[in-house]
Amino acid sequence: MLIAPSILAADFANLQKETEMLNGSVADWIHVDVMDGMFVPNISFGIPVIQAIKKHSTKPLDVHLMIVDPDRYLQAFKNAGADNLSVHIEACHHLHRTVQAIKELGMKAGVAINPHTSISGLYDIIADIDLICLMSVNPGFGGQKFIENTYDKVSRLKDMILQKSSKAIIEIDGGVNIQNAPKIKQAGADALVAGNFVFSSSSPLEVIAELKNI
Ligand code: DX5
Ligand code: ZN
Repeated sequence: MLIAPSILAADFANLQKETEMLNGSVADWIHVDVMDGMFVPNISFGIPVIQAIKKHSTKPLDVHLMIVDPDRYLQAFKNAGADNLSVHIEACHHLHRTVQAIKELGMKAGVAINPHTSISGLYDIIADIDLICLMSVNPGFGGQKFIENTYDKVSRLKDMILQKSSKAIIEIDGGVNIQNAPKIKQAGADALVAGNFVFSSSSPLEVIAELKNI
């Protein structure tokens, strides 16, 4: 299982320290949530903050764009240090073009999908993408409750991936904890994002290791 702690739940006044803590963990990626106050109600942080994290990170940055019209900023996020770049299916008019552009810039191309959005819209693009960020909460905030329908959605998505011989990784984002992680894994997920569960713990390193070993 790949583990991507979400820096959204970190102490923003100590980003260097928090990044170094993650460097010393068994986490695979650092998940970076960019919110524009338009696609989602909340505003998080942008490109200069990602540059600052990149300076200290030894882990790949898994950047999740919750912004309208992400095509405007693909190059800028590449320059800031994104390794994986996920755009929302709901935010793209020409998703195939966007995915090709992300790959041409040398990043792994991810597509994020909201809880209410059917996976059927991924059918004709799934063989072209590296990652699906399946939202298990409504995007915009950390610390929300995991939506139970996700288990079923993951297994249907896994079937689609196999049917289409896609190499896409399924990443689950929102409300992940040690109680639901085994069931998410069993449903067919490959990667887990965890924000509050990691950073509100008194021993984040142990929590990351526990998730890794489910
Ligand atoms: C939600 C973000 C998530 C968030 C997860 O909009 O996409 O990545 O940081 O945080 P938790 O694990 O606290 O739900
Ligand atoms: Zn996210």
